[in-house]
Amino acid sequence: MEIVRTVHEMQTYSDEVRAQGSITGLVPTMGYLHEGHLSLVRRAREDADIVIVSIFVNPTQFGPGEDLSTYPRDFESDVHLLEKENADVIFNPAVSGMYPEPSLTNVYVHKLTQGLCGADRPGHFEGVALVVAKLLNIVKPHKAFFGAKDFQQQAVIRRMVTDLNFDVEIVTCPVVRERDGLAMSSRNMYLTSDERERAAVLNQSLEEAERLIKEGERSVDAILNRMRTMIQSKNPVKIDYVSAVDPDTLEPVTGIRGPVLLAVAVRFGKARLVDNRLVEP
Ligand code: PAJ
Repeated sequence: MEIVRTVHEMQTYSDEVRAQGSITGLVPTMGYLHEGHLSLVRRAREDADIVIVSIFVNPTQFGPGEDLSTYPRDFESDVHLLEKENADVIFNPAVSGMYPEPSLTNVYVHKLTQGLCGADRPGHFEGVALVVAKLLNIVKPHKAFFGAKDFQQQAVIRRMVTDLNFDVEIVTCPVVRERDGLAMSSRNMYLTSDERERAAVLNQSLEEAERLIKEGERSVDAILNRMRTMIQSKNPVKIDYVSAVDPDTLEPVTGIRGPVLLAVAVRFGKARLVDNRLVEP
């Protein structure tokens, strides 16, 4: 496995493997890898000849007061895990390499970035879209792999790729969970053991909502109220949102008439946790 640190080296490597006819897959990450990330790497291993994993804690997607400076990092462990998964390359650029100067170019995906996490984290998805656009241009993968855990993120990236004609296939992989259902996240390490136990309510509330819908409940208010009551009973610091949206437009739905994305963002302790579930009535 090679570790590539500069944009130029990465571009040269990609050009070479593409010229040889290899199918390349990119898994963009911010490191501190867990089974969720590794599930994407395994999928990439199946779908591509050359698997490139980027590890870059992207400063432009963190707002003021967010956890950029404390975001967990463990490069040695990441290298070890990716060696076991037979990844071919880790792209681990320096911030100064990715942003030699502050970017004057912004990638703003309208509408899809307004609701859900976009409302609580202004500028976040511009930072994500910018860095993913840069990574796609640097690595030029045939396929790029994202997790459904960050549903809004993959929706924004898919739209950017369509609108700007990026020549890449976006593959979305299912959410990987802990045994009690908590979605795996690098940010779970911020939780105390008590908060960690209580946080399982996010997935439980999503399962309960699915159960209600499958039993015929069609009132969005009734479903969201039930979810809020369940989450509130575990005393979170704050519920940022509990929403039911159209999975394509991410606009709130007023009734359950087709597939619906149930999505939650809740603060427990120092962690802001997100989770979601796509439900077909
Ligand atoms: P990061 O949070 O490190 O996540 C990297 C990828 O792993 C994302 O596509 C995310 O959706 C996926 N992932 C995380 N937890 C998962 C889980 N439990 N199950 C399945 N997939 C999971 O998301 C980012 O980094 C950044 O915003 C990035 C796209 C790299 C741009 O900086």
